[in-house]
Amino acid sequence: MTAKTYAIALLAGDGIGPEIMTVAQAVLMRVSQNFGFTLHFTPAPFGGQAIDLTGEPLPPETLALCRRSDAVLMGAVGGPKWDNHPRRPEQGLLGLRAGLGLYANLRPATVRPQLVNSSSLKPEIVSGVDLLVVRELTGGIYFGQPQGIFSEKKGERRGVNTMTYSESEIERISRVAFQAARQRRNQVTSVDKANVLTVSQLWREVVTKVAQDYPEVTLDHLYVDNAAMQLIRWPKQFDVLVTGNLFGDILSDEAAMLTGSIGMLPSASLGDGPGVFEPVHGSAPDIAGQDKANPLAQVLSGAMLLRYALQQTAAADRVERAVDQVLDQGYRTADIMAPGMTAVGCTQMGERLLAALEED
Ligand code: IPM
Ligand code: MG
Repeated sequence: MTAKTYAIALLAGDGIGPEIMTVAQAVLMRVSQNFGFTLHFTPAPFGGQAIDLTGEPLPPETLALCRRSDAVLMGAVGGPKWDNHPRRPEQGLLGLRAGLGLYANLRPATVRPQLVNSSSLKPEIVSGVDLLVVRELTGGIYFGQPQGIFSEKKGERRGVNTMTYSESEIERISRVAFQAARQRRNQVTSVDKANVLTVSQLWREVVTKVAQDYPEVTLDHLYVDNAAMQLIRWPKQFDVLVTGNLFGDILSDEAAMLTGSIGMLPSASLGDGPGVFEPVHGSAPDIAGQDKANPLAQVLSGAMLLRYALQQTAAADRVERAVDQVLDQGYRTADIMAPGMTAVGCTQMGERLLAALEED
């Protein structure tokens, strides 16, 4: 029998992207060998790095490579170097999401017991937090038309973005949330601003209707301002949060911080074709190239890739366990360092992970 082979596109991107990607790739390579399948990695330019090379943050060849791959592992994009460039690295990210139809963004925030004291909130508030933000990713105000800066009479300009959701867009993201809740604790909280926004009124109506197909799942609704407050007041009340693109962007950063460090959080962006797996954090240009970055979110994104794109569940579990092992052994990068722990850089953390994969 020949071993299964999967094609993985690697978009390391900017800032700390390349260093954390090196670690994640090594971990995935090792676990694939141990579990008897083959990963074929193809790196491609993306983000600021691609702007420097080609003038475009998402070169057509990169998008084509992603489309014919089984999954995409992405690092991070952006940095001050391109802040005033006419093409921004972030446009590449939005182009990739749109180009691959990645409408569902899953951002789990799990507080690991080893890191309870790294959170800026009290341990009793965060210990045991295990929630999932399901963020709609290809619609809403990020993509709605009209959009632009328009000249009005008297020469005054007006900046415009449009928040819009169709029933079918709301329905498909709701189904992702309800299906995820079924695998978890059967609870969905939909977040909107239905007291003010018309688009949110339709959102609430459609989510409520879709909920009828999932009788075992309880649904409640929160306004986004209240949700932001509840997330830091008592985050253990949440299982799955489902929301639109902009609210999900904001709430997922807030949820990330519950866990101690945004450097720990992976994400999956899924559509009908290949998915993109990337850390929630950004490119951290201030520490890039100094071997200080925490590679664990990138590694955990690799685990999500194994689980959701390749259905290699045992290998995914093993990678997640390796992360717990190195934390149990006391290894910490600077962002999660605590008294009595052993400080390591990005490369060393990678070495500890490979060693952990060889332990029982
Ligand atoms: C994220 C990021 C992106 C977003 C930026 C970099 C375009 O903040 O993935 O959360 O706003 O979606
Ligand atoms: Mg964000």
